[in-house]
Amino acid sequence: MSLLKAHDKGGEVPAGARHVAIIMDGNGRWAKKRHMPRALGHQRGVEAVRRTVKAARDMGLQALTLYAFSTENWSRPEDEVSALMGLMKRFIIADLDEFASNNVRLKIIGDYKAFAPDVVELIEGALARTAGNDGTTLVVALNYGSQDEIARAASAAASKGAITPESIAAELDTADLPPLDLLIRTSGEVRLSNFLLWQAAYAEMIFMDVLWPDFGPAHLAEALAEFTQRERRYGGR
Ligand code: IPE
Ligand code: IPE
Ligand code: MG
Repeated sequence: MSLLKAHDKGGEVPAGARHVAIIMDGNGRWAKKRHMPRALGHQRGVEAVRRTVKAARDMGLQALTLYAFSTENWSRPEDEVSALMGLMKRFIIADLDEFASNNVRLKIIGDYKAFAPDVVELIEGALARTAGNDGTTLVVALNYGSQDEIARAASAAASKGAITPESIAAELDTADLPPLDLLIRTSGEVRLSNFLLWQAAYAEMIFMDVLWPDFGPAHLAEALAEFTQRERRYGGR
């Protein structure tokens, strides 16, 4: 069975993107350029998240996956990690009503249960509150590392039987999402930083020079326009 079929159950390949993921990078550089504290860059990054989620919803994307905190980001100084946690909590508290009433379903990938109990409680409340929504799925990658995800999926698959590409894919955190069509990274860095390594097997990739706090609907539209120009071949011809 081809990878495409494994992920897509043999369905038609859609012309437009259904699932877009973004490595939101460059908050620190945005702040540094302005001689501001890094935390302020992260704060402005949250504004970009709001704009981008709204745009994704308006464009009718089925899923938008945002890389918010990696398994490697714990190695940052404690004050930066706690600033990021604080922003995350405030974001959920401030924006949950809007998601709930706009048919946005929240989903988390990664091991978010390693966060502080108050953060876990907030996340689980938000998941429960939006679970019945069937509009755009906002997928937030929290304490996410692709290698960790694949290792967890492989052991789950092994405990049930044979390890195959299909049995691993079925245990990934993203198993219920449409296949990844487009992966965007901002800030000009050209690497995956342990994000969606498995899912990106046949995703299109776009690396943009914009720093994340400056990202908005026009950048998302530009990336989607570029995506429609790409010819996806999945190894065929
Ligand atoms: C991305 O911005 C946000 C997170 C990783 C949480 P950075 O903080 O990595 O910003 P740069 O890469 O240092 O500019
Ligand atoms: C990737 O960005 C993680 C997130 C955007 C959450 P990083 O800034 O942590 O990645 P590296 O260190 O530049 O590879
Ligand atoms: Mg970075």
